[in-house]
Amino acid sequence: MTDHWWESSTGVSTTLANVVRPIEEWASGLPNEAYVSDEFAEWEQDVLLARTWTCIGTGRRVPDAGDAVPLEFAGLPLIMVRGRDGEVRVFHNVCSHRGMVLLEEPGRRRSTIRCPYHSWTYDLDGSLRSTPMIGGTDKNTCEGFEWSKHGLKPVRTATWFDAIFVNLSGDAPPFETFIAPVAERWKDFDAADLHYEASDSSFTLDVACNWKLAVENFCEAYHLPWIHPSLNSYSRLEDHYQIAEEEDGYAGQGSTAYQPQLVENGNGLPTMPGLPERWYGTAEYVALFPTAVFGVHADHCFVGTLMPAGTGRTIEHVDIYYFADEAMGEGCAELRAANRNQWRGIFLEDRFVVEGMQRGRASPAYKGGVLSPALERTTHCFYRWVARKMMEAVEANGAA
Ligand code: FES
Ligand SMILES: [Fe+2]
Repeated sequence: MTDHWWESSTGVSTTLANVVRPIEEWASGLPNEAYVSDEFAEWEQDVLLARTWTCIGTGRRVPDAGDAVPLEFAGLPLIMVRGRDGEVRVFHNVCSHRGMVLLEEPGRRRSTIRCPYHSWTYDLDGSLRSTPMIGGTDKNTCEGFEWSKHGLKPVRTATWFDAIFVNLSGDAPPFETFIAPVAERWKDFDAADLHYEASDSSFTLDVACNWKLAVENFCEAYHLPWIHPSLNSYSRLEDHYQIAEEEDGYAGQGSTAYQPQLVENGNGLPTMPGLPERWYGTAEYVALFPTAVFGVHADHCFVGTLMPAGTGRTIEHVDIYYFADEAMGEGCAELRAANRNQWRGIFLEDRFVVEGMQRGRASPAYKGGVLSPALERTTHCFYRWVARKMMEAVEANGAA
């Protein structure tokens, strides 16, 4: 007997074996506990979120040097800071002195991060800068104190398409290895300049579902005709192809009928200069497991994070970027606003189903369900990714 559904005293848990078998053999999805159990949510923080490269937001949350935002991820308080060198760094949001949380609110630091407790300060690069009175009321230093040992504790961080990825455990393969497959797929966008107008190019939704439901729904296009009838009117389900790259950790869909419907005075949004022809009319959307979602089109892209915020809650934040200078400024303001509203509308349509699936997972009548071999290879790809990470963790635990 074992305590958990993901373990088995005789090898692989039957539940996980049912998830990873080929979709044609009626693989099943993850069981309810994966979405409603707090105990599981805690375990997955380590297994699915901390050991991988996980997107926690975009660099535009800290647009200028000295900008810093606190955030919670995988149960840990973190801060994202932009340094004077333009780099975005992520640190544990905890003072090296007595462990006070450093930052409660986003804001702009002039040049240091100051702890509110005893006023120790840190440089934007995390190094310790001052320790008032550490040697007595008239002495800001102390013999034998090793400054270099007491800076902020950094988190392994990398940036791609303005998305900020962290690897909390510190031992995932190099970021370049992780990102290579999807970077290769979208290498035509390497040269893209990412522009945005803060006032009209992002949105946030607070959604009552486990984050995995948001990811698995993003992966498949099967629901298009019923949930997104307006999107389906110009980018139909039959115009979509599936992208299911389990080994590479991403899945989603492409559409060969992406025709921007947003036109003002006969003009649409300007496209990316120099983009190869094949992208005109094609769009691709992928979830890069675990939490990032991306969409690329000839005239814009978006980066979304589906951030776990409790077992049954996800904060979805989407940032839209334009590739051409001419897309910015007043001339295109209405088009940008319409584009944002269109995407927000689509994510709102999805909210209905992901919240409904979350409520459905209170029912013991549901035991992981079944998938369409024709249209849900992508969602199965995500289930398998989850299940395999879990199996690896169980195995490593057993071997320990
Ligand atoms: S806990 Fe931060 S300065 Fe004391
Ligand atoms: Fe959808």
